[in-house]
Amino acid sequence: MLQKMVIRGGPPLKGAVRISGSKNAALPIIISSIMAPGRSEFLDVPDLMDIRTTERLLTDLGAEVVFNDKFVVDSTPIKNHEAPWDEVRKMRASFLVLGALLSRFGIAKVALPGGCALGPRLVDQHLKGFVSIGVKIKEEHGLVIASGKNIRGDSVTFDFPTVGGTENILMAACTAKGETVINNAAREPEIIDLARALREMGAVIEGEGEETIRVQGVDALSPIRYRIIQDRIEAGTYLMAIAVTAGDVTIENFPADMLTSVVGKLEEAGVDFKQTGDEMRVKGPKKINPINVSTQPYPGFPTDLQAPITSLLTVADGTSVVTETIFENRFAHVPELIRLGADITIDGRSAVIKGVKGLSGAKVMSSDLRNSASLILAGLVAENTTEVYRLYHLERGYERMEEKLSSLGADIKKVRQDD
Ligand code: EPZ
Repeated sequence: MLQKMVIRGGPPLKGAVRISGSKNAALPIIISSIMAPGRSEFLDVPDLMDIRTTERLLTDLGAEVVFNDKFVVDSTPIKNHEAPWDEVRKMRASFLVLGALLSRFGIAKVALPGGCALGPRLVDQHLKGFVSIGVKIKEEHGLVIASGKNIRGDSVTFDFPTVGGTENILMAACTAKGETVINNAAREPEIIDLARALREMGAVIEGEGEETIRVQGVDALSPIRYRIIQDRIEAGTYLMAIAVTAGDVTIENFPADMLTSVVGKLEEAGVDFKQTGDEMRVKGPKKINPINVSTQPYPGFPTDLQAPITSLLTVADGTSVVTETIFENRFAHVPELIRLGADITIDGRSAVIKGVKGLSGAKVMSSDLRNSASLILAGLVAENTTEVYRLYHLERGYERMEEKLSSLGADIKKVRQDD
């Protein structure tokens, strides 16, 4: 059943909200359990559509999975080493099984992901990395067939710090013979969390969070019990929601050290922060200052918060420029925000946002996960009613958002979308 989100804008958010576990850390960590035959348990895994897709992917490979308050995988019975197109088309992160299956079986067949709403999203860097460590790669009928019974560690140098590429090679390198050195590695907190989980499984890794990661291959990995880090993108999205409604909210389980660049930008915009342990009290200003933001690999401003901050700046007191440097096509929220009364012009890779006095509710269409969140944020301040269609995008990555925003006083509900 298709659903839409109906929001009546106005009330400033008030109260307290708790951040869930990170989707983008949980996905590769759960997938890495393929490499450690036995029963692994993961805690703080958010209940999201992408996690359910991962559950199905593992089950189809032959694993036994139970996902209630924790995510339990018994990877012993996995026999299948093929992830078909049907799995990969639902979620590009399914391509991460390549490194894990290769480590376990010496062979993997995984469908080549196509483009998506954000652009062509190639996997050339993943494949280049595998070839560098001696894996044979063939592409046939839309499948990548990777084989390498005795992968030898070597040096892998990415052209740019790809998150998924770093994760895929990191997994395969854990059981390669000798040392693998990953140069120009991505430094995102989710990579650090994956490296920590792999280390608990028995892998020998150093340098995660830095540009060069070194992995000494070991013979085998063992299952673990592991707690996933907080979702910094969910936390960042709530920061924008509080700011845009001039709210006053305490965020619990707040990953402050992973959000330095975001907090810095929001302070410039006039948002007030007060940290006590793992709680952050956030107060939105009466008047939002215009700011310039450019997305960058971590520790820079995350591309996943580009759409949400664009929504915030639509009602700033002046002109802001938001530049997207990671994805080729990540401005699909802009025409929808314009329908809500925003004044935005796209100039190449930048959105020039002239702040307006207020937005006015309308029906809008989301087309990816983060842009659906940005439309909801706009709905929180727009006059009258905003309806966000194609809500399934949101449900890939925000746990119980309707419930969390309602508990903060927002007038928001999910209803059936008839067409
Ligand atoms: C991860 O995607 C995240 N997904 C994305 O979050 C996030 O936007 C992205 O990193 C950047 O931070 C997960 O962690 C599951 P990349 P990933 O490889 O791994 C190009 C969300 O909303 N590229 O760093 O795919 C690619 O096309 C999602 O939660 C190549 O050209 O990111 C893109 O433009 C959306 N060749 C850019 O690099 C390659 O081989 C960044 O990709 C690989 C990537």
